Amino acid sequence: MEKDKQKRLRSEDWFNPGDPKSAFIHRSWLRNQGYPNDYFNGRPVIGICNTWSELTPCNGHLRDFAEFVKKGVLEAGGVPFEFPVTSMGEILMRPTAMLFRNLASMDTEESIRANPLDGVVLLTGCDKTTPSTVMGACSVDLPTIVVPGGPMLNGKYKGERIGSGTFVWTLKDKIKNEGFTPEDQIEAEICSARSAGHCMTMGTASTMACMVESLGLTLPGAAAIPAVDSRKKVMAQLSGRRIVEMVKEDLKLSKILTREAFENAIKLNAAIGGSTNFIIHLQAIAGRIGVPLNLKEFDTLGSKIPLLVNLMPSGKFLMEDFFDAGGLPVVIKQMKEHLHNNALTVNGKPIGDNNKKAECYNTEVIAQIDNPFIEEAGIAVLYGNLCEDGAVYSKTLKIAMPI
Ligand code: FES
Repeated sequence: MEKDKQKRLRSEDWFNPGDPKSAFIHRSWLRNQGYPNDYFNGRPVIGICNTWSELTPCNGHLRDFAEFVKKGVLEAGGVPFEFPVTSMGEILMRPTAMLFRNLASMDTEESIRANPLDGVVLLTGCDKTTPSTVMGACSVDLPTIVVPGGPMLNGKYKGERIGSGTFVWTLKDKIKNEGFTPEDQIEAEICSARSAGHCMTMGTASTMACMVESLGLTLPGAAAIPAVDSRKKVMAQLSGRRIVEMVKEDLKLSKILTREAFENAIKLNAAIGGSTNFIIHLQAIAGRIGVPLNLKEFDTLGSKIPLLVNLMPSGKFLMEDFFDAGGLPVVIKQMKEHLHNNALTVNGKPIGDNNKKAECYNTEVIAQIDNPFIEEAGIAVLYGNLCEDGAVYSKTLKIAMPI
């Protein structure tokens, strides 16, 4: 698009407002960081919304990632500004990180709205850091791209895979019945979390990463790349380049987060055996962007979908195996008969086109659609005198929870 036909950038209201006093204030103080003058001459300004915190170990590597996003933004002609938002570590926060999800979403929303930003990159990881930031960004509706921080490498203890959040439930039994010593415990703790990244089972964090990829909010294949794999840094850099183009194309969240995108996400969550927490977070995101989505639809759309992914906690493998087997692109390709393949994604292409060349490298981890691990998986929604507002039943894990 030619410059004279482009929409005026939002950031120009701060940096080139036509009022010399305002321009002086908005530009002068920023110059103390050493920015050259061409930072303020109409280049797209990109906010890098970082959920990094040393108290959120799952996001502890995102400081480094921000540098790769910045590199990409600069290469594409944009101007990057990194900013922090409330981070929620599932492990340490009491009484529960969920209590703070909406607070973090408001932090994200107001930080974006209040500042001279034209586009946003969300750096996410631990469970609630993904939905909270996406919710906040939806309320402002700028061009936005998500870079999921990626899972830890597989936990390995005495030659066996151990999944974060799965092994811990066996601990009491091991101590009581298998002579597990305090030294064994320390060794297992280290083996369980042996690299940067979020939990590497198909728990909430991995489910959220797959959710944003299913919605079209990441570049293709982003969700399963392990946090320490060099391709994750490449993904961060390419996302930085792409967000600048998205600003020029005015490719806002509301153009991607359509009803079709939400339906795709529900079906793909069933196919990967994703967490039931998916429901509350997806509904909250839909509410922010204005797409009606009721509880019953998770059943009508997602309770008869075949299970294609064999990951803990219901299965055998972990996210590193999922990535090695081809990751979410393989599932999207396998599920093409069930999906809206024309749903737009952040790279400007339909989800079906993005993933049509995906290849499966291990059918023990990702099944073929005509030979699934479970014929009808997903989440059923139940109503009755014990749960008048509804309960969700994971057909993969075989557990029910009231809403
Ligand atoms: Fe952060 Fe599991 S504790 S992802």
